Amino acid sequence: MTNSDEKTTHFGYRTVAEDEKAGLVHGVFSSVASKYDVMNDAMSMGIHRLWKDAMMDWLAPRPGQSLLDVAGGTGDIAFRFLARAPEARALVLDMTESMLVAGRQRAEAGKLGDKLDWVVGDAMALPFPDASFDVYTISFGIRNVTRIPDALSEAFRVLRPGGRLMVLEFSQLPNDGLQKLYDLYSFNVIPKMGKLITGDADSYQYLVESIRKFPDQERFAEMIRAAGFDNVKYRNLSMGIAALHSGWKL
Ligand SMILES: C[S@@+](CC[C@H](N)C(=O)[O-])C[C@H]1O[C@@H](n2cnc3c(N)ncnc32)[C@H](O)[C@@H]1O
Repeated sequence: MTNSDEKTTHFGYRTVAEDEKAGLVHGVFSSVASKYDVMNDAMSMGIHRLWKDAMMDWLAPRPGQSLLDVAGGTGDIAFRFLARAPEARALVLDMTESMLVAGRQRAEAGKLGDKLDWVVGDAMALPFPDASFDVYTISFGIRNVTRIPDALSEAFRVLRPGGRLMVLEFSQLPNDGLQKLYDLYSFNVIPKMGKLITGDADSYQYLVESIRKFPDQERFAEMIRAAGFDNVKYRNLSMGIAALHSGWKL
């Protein structure tokens, strides 16, 4: 229940007070953190790995760049970035400490030493000065953020002039038939799989609902432009199940 003068947002299909959402999202990811990587592979049949590789192909990390990976969770994007640009540095920021803890425990983390940092923080209020990073990524994170325009403004602020934003997020399929098929899978299979693997069906019910609430490719591109980014483009992945959006701070 919310007071009529309170600002509201959605948490999956539920309407909640804006103040409430971050706590609910934190609850979801705290609950699934230790099984997050296994579950990602199971529900996407490993395809999330290909999408993350496609993100790196488009991003083309260069030696010496500094990456901020927001909502970076268990480190998938930072690990890939550093594997492609060994002299680069990366910082993974996430509001759920247990996701970062799971990331730090991964084998890749041990080998990266001081090239990689982990910070607990909020995408809407980044604890960094203006113009601190060359690249800002957010992978399957932005749809969980309470006020997406605030996160995009923060991305713009912390990037150096010439810096690049890249977002990987679930998106919308191009026609109703395909969307219905995909919904059938996601609403029927994913929460059950989530219960089996993590013991938590509700978190995965939230996941599938939050995917359906996220703006489509064009609307999201407009939001990125509104935050100040130029040369905004997107590419569909697996016909639009997910999409990559790229923008530049010029
Ligand atoms: C689905 S996971 C994505 C993890 C990783 N980026 C990946 O692609 O596998 C979403 C992450 O977003 C984080 N998150 C949600 N809202 C956030 C916010 N406002 N600020 C920082 N992290 C946030 C969650 O804690 C969670 O770890």
